[in-house]
Amino acid sequence: MRIFVEKDYDAMSRRMAQVIAAEIVHNPACVLGLATGSTPEGAYKYLVDWYKQGCLSFKDVLSVNLDEYVGLAPTHDQSYRYFMQSNLFNHVDIIPENTRVPDGLTKDPKTFCAEYDAYIHSLGYVDLQLLGIGRNGHIGFNEPGDSFVKETHVVDLAESTIDANARFFATRDDVPKQAISMGIGAIMGAKKVLLAASGEEKAGAILNSICGTITPHCPGSILQLHPNVVVVVDEAAGSRLKSAGVSICG
Ligand code: GLP
Repeated sequence: MRIFVEKDYDAMSRRMAQVIAAEIVHNPACVLGLATGSTPEGAYKYLVDWYKQGCLSFKDVLSVNLDEYVGLAPTHDQSYRYFMQSNLFNHVDIIPENTRVPDGLTKDPKTFCAEYDAYIHSLGYVDLQLLGIGRNGHIGFNEPGDSFVKETHVVDLAESTIDANARFFATRDDVPKQAISMGIGAIMGAKKVLLAASGEEKAGAILNSICGTITPHCPGSILQLHPNVVVVVDEAAGSRLKSAGVSICG
């Protein structure tokens, strides 16, 4: 694992964007595994800027998103499809048909999930998987539990995740109770993983993911078994790493 601790959210975002841009420059037809949430928002802004400056093109990029709320239409302003359109896809030259986000309105989740995995498999897995992390250590929407779920699946969201995401909805009751999430198999199949976090409330999840016991009770901890992980955090999210003896790149 290469770990970068950046001064603040903006510096973290810039570093994340550099890792993503490097992937695209190196392989213009790469497959990006994309994430939503507050964490990657700033990185997407940098990528849009660099695209507008002519430094980057997404025209041959394929993307596969990690997760989506069950029951939200793509036009719902809290759906992850809407997030991707408004934060990235609408502002760069990615071909719409080359972007995938799980369908929160599918009538047949089981078949949908199997097909999502088959698609990822047909691409040879993703080249670079972006991950934020929940305060409880969830990655995508793989919530803490007694086992890791390998396949794309429907998840019952943890109460703490509903609490954390309530800030985006009018009331807590409006937060969907389920989501479709890529499983640990597709995440671990990625050739490279970029894990990012910002803010002190993520410091415990980052510490446990990087050097805690590998356990499904902290899903991010499985990343210790991945051979190619870059971690980018701000000082607050990385605040417990130095005292734990973790070596930092920058
Ligand atoms: C959400 C998403 C994750 C995201 C995480 C952290 O619930 N399902 O993909 O990484 O929780 O979100 P944020 O970046 O907003 O803190």
